[in-house]
Amino acid sequence: MVKGLYIHIPFCNIKCPYCDFTSITINNEEIYKKYIETLKKELLFYKNENINFETIYFGGGTPSILNPKYIIDIINFIKKNFKIVKNPEITVEVNPKTYRFEDFSILKEFGINRVSIGVQSFLVKNLKMLGRNHTPEDCLKTVEDCLKAGIENINLDLIFGIQNQTLEDLEEDLKIYTSLDIKHISAYMLTPYEETPLGQLVKNGYFNLPSDEEIEDMYKLIIDYLKSKNFYHYELSNWAKEGYQCKHNLFYWENVQFLGVGVSAWSYINNVRFGSTKNLFDYIEKVNSGVKPILFKEFLTEKDLKNEKIMLGLRLTKGIDKNLIQDKENLIKLLQNENLLEDKKNRVRLTPKGFLLSNYIISKLLD
Ligand SMILES: C[S@@+](CC[C@H](N)C(=O)[O-])C[C@H]1O[C@@H](n2cnc3c(N)ncnc32)[C@H](O)[C@@H]1O
Ligand code: SF4
Repeated sequence: MVKGLYIHIPFCNIKCPYCDFTSITINNEEIYKKYIETLKKELLFYKNENINFETIYFGGGTPSILNPKYIIDIINFIKKNFKIVKNPEITVEVNPKTYRFEDFSILKEFGINRVSIGVQSFLVKNLKMLGRNHTPEDCLKTVEDCLKAGIENINLDLIFGIQNQTLEDLEEDLKIYTSLDIKHISAYMLTPYEETPLGQLVKNGYFNLPSDEEIEDMYKLIIDYLKSKNFYHYELSNWAKEGYQCKHNLFYWENVQFLGVGVSAWSYINNVRFGSTKNLFDYIEKVNSGVKPILFKEFLTEKDLKNEKIMLGLRLTKGIDKNLIQDKENLIKLLQNENLLEDKKNRVRLTPKGFLLSNYIISKLLD
């Protein structure tokens, strides 16, 4: 059963220098309209799949670049053409420079009940360093308007490990984040992807990101601080107040089937993982000529599925069933001695230090 739906909106007002998401800076209503119509056509390719959507997630790019009427239009289309549970979790990613009270009110009226805001930081120096186009006031206003419109399930993104960021800066940020009436925080370590301007600046020595030790201290501070404010750490980068874990993202980590539509979106259906073209015009052309815009497709074997369970499960703080890696007894002991892995009641999970090296550790534990 396919339970999650991801919809990618590949438009942004500016391209942030660190971002490797598929998005382009186009401000053209005609293209937006065409894209929405194309998304609907693509959705219809999956009309006969075994679907009952429990979550819908509009991600980007910047979905909030669109007039809310487009988001509503898609939701109505989905409700008309697919099975969907009574109270689905519907999330929209929002940039702090876009939606205000009226927009949130419309979203709320049509069933959007979760908003994820790309705040990154409330400190001007961090926002400047990240090349963001908004101010701390924009972020506060967005949260305030969202709450006023009656959407209480709010996530704020936070980025740490920024050049010149100190532990005191991070603590100040955490203080502001947790002073707001929000339910969820996603805290990402700044990653200098090679193909991005930031990646190039770091590679060529023009930018120095904090050292591994500093990053470890920052991550530990986030864990301890958020715990003291009753945010439960449930995944590598995600914290939630009780009852507010992101259902949609949990589907990814718990290996539940999902459909992704739009440029560059991934899907996982009937043991097949597939992803779409990253090129907007290629996407529009293919879908409108009745062809699925699939770029790659991969059938997951029994061994792949086991590896997926290990890889995704170890991102969660509840970890995985020890049986999944029982043949790696020596490695487990080694990782435990290094304080990277803990073994509790037949479950194995990464420690905070282990989370920071998760890619490396997980690669060693796979079959
Ligand atoms: C699609 S964006 C969120 C919505 C909107 N586009 C925005 O930026 O306001 C998803 C999130 O990924 C995170 N992110 C993007 N690039 C990153 C990078 N290189 N390192 C760490 N986090 C990153 C940011 O926190 C960002 O808010
Ligand atoms: S971080 Fe968000 S706003 Fe910036 S380019 Fe990426 S998707 Fe667009």
